[in-house]
Amino acid sequence: MPLEKPRWIHFTGIGDPDVGYISVAQSFSHVPFEIKRVYWVYDTPVDVERGNHAHKSCLQVLIALIGKIEVELENELGETFTFILDTPDSGVFVPTYHWRKIHFSEGAVLLSIASESYLEEDYIREYAEFKKT
Ligand code: TYD
Repeated sequence: MPLEKPRWIHFTGIGDPDVGYISVAQSFSHVPFEIKRVYWVYDTPVDVERGNHAHKSCLQVLIALIGKIEVELENELGETFTFILDTPDSGVFVPTYHWRKIHFSEGAVLLSIASESYLEEDYIREYAEFKKT
């Protein structure tokens, strides 16, 4: 299977400035997989690097609901991709086998939409192991 690349996903903002907006993530239309899990990450200090893992099966879309979040991704070929998430109407699709490093701005909130339930065995947590895959 060809190596899938990370990419932007743009959600429509339904509404207008007078009332605000709704964005929607539905399985297979706005996100390219069936959604099994949603989690959110918050109160992360700005000097902390989160992530530092890759997934074997789990696909994700990451969205900064509040604030600015920098997502650095590396694939199995060593190619790197940087996404600055700073608007709740856009996210990044993260394919399998992408090592991620995530930095939060003050007060940022990260929403993660995932294709799999939580399974620790799906994680690659050692960078050296990731580089061997
Ligand atoms: P982890 O995915 O390693 O977070 P990050 O990459 O942002 O640092 O998860 C941190 C901890 O939370 C880890 O002990 C596993 C636990 N966790 C769950 O129990 N369920 C989940 O759905 C997630 C995402 C994490």
